[in-house]
Amino acid sequence: MTSLPPLYATLTPLARFKGQFDATAVVAESRKIWQTIQRSPHWSQIHRDLKALVHGVDRHLSSSTVIGDGIETRLPDRFDYEALEKLCASLISWRTGPYTLGSFHIDTEWRSHMKWSRIAPLIPQRPGMRIADVGCSNGYFMHKLATLQPDITVGFDPIERCWLQFALIQSLVRTPNLAFVPMGILSLEAFQGFFDFILCMGVLYHQRDHALAVRRLFDATRSGGYVLLESLIVPSDKPLVIEPRDRYAKMRNAWVIPSANHLHTLFEEAGFTEVSVHSFGPLTTNEQRATKFAPYESLADFLDPNDPTRTIEGHPAPHTAAVIGKKV
Ligand SMILES: C[S@@+](CC[C@H](N)C(=O)[O-])C[C@H]1O[C@@H](n2cnc3c(N)ncnc32)[C@H](O)[C@@H]1O
Repeated sequence: MTSLPPLYATLTPLARFKGQFDATAVVAESRKIWQTIQRSPHWSQIHRDLKALVHGVDRHLSSSTVIGDGIETRLPDRFDYEALEKLCASLISWRTGPYTLGSFHIDTEWRSHMKWSRIAPLIPQRPGMRIADVGCSNGYFMHKLATLQPDITVGFDPIERCWLQFALIQSLVRTPNLAFVPMGILSLEAFQGFFDFILCMGVLYHQRDHALAVRRLFDATRSGGYVLLESLIVPSDKPLVIEPRDRYAKMRNAWVIPSANHLHTLFEEAGFTEVSVHSFGPLTTNEQRATKFAPYESLADFLDPNDPTRTIEGHPAPHTAAVIGKKV
């Protein structure tokens, strides 16, 4: 009977690429978050519960994952569902998904398959790619990307909860060739020219310096590779600059909400070619809503109740768009 390797082991699928990225920087950054988890009674208890849950079922797990609208896997008959539910409750809020683990369903804040159906037709269909998902949350899209048969998919997210959620799901689902690196977009510096395809969704508008973030994506892309960046946008010709004291849709950390034109310009200025922008219209409360496992305020609370084309602060309500470009 083997036990779950430490959370840190989500990095191990990267080991065979040693020498092709800055492993020292990755280990140093990851160690910082690992130490935060160890120092926190809350997070370290969750990590112990996670190890205990998987310990003992390890050898009974079969690779029976179904990647549909949700990520579904079978679990052994005598699985401890009570412990699973307790663990998932302690890891609230669950944002990307949904997941079905045996007979247990996690209804997440986002019906992420709706986003997937918009962006999937834009993704290069090439097996054997090295893929990054920057701002991967709990890794939902990494499992979806597995249908492309990548050489490796590396998820990046600097938030402790995301690392633990990923480790929980992946220890039961076991999609091949997935790594999780607990670092943010700017730390992509450690992966110069490494990836054939980078997906970066829902991250840009939290960045103070959009141009720097896009440059990091460009630099981490291999020649001939592509970056697909998806973002909330405002339906306007110009980006919306948020005053320092103001908020956008109740978000404290939104600095500039891009327009579709702004996405195009950012990509061209970073050096991408064959740049195209795809606008998807307004974000809906059918796609993003509060659930049992995401019980906090959601999109409906961020919009003007009398006018859903405005945010609660009176700004234009969020639309979404994706920009894709090639690095020659
Ligand atoms: C709005 S969610 C988007 C999740 C998913 N990519 C999607 O599109 O549904 C933003 C994600 O970015 C992560 N994040 C926060 N700061 C980040 C940073 N500096 N670099 C990369 N990801 C970050 C958050 O933890 C969160 O999981």
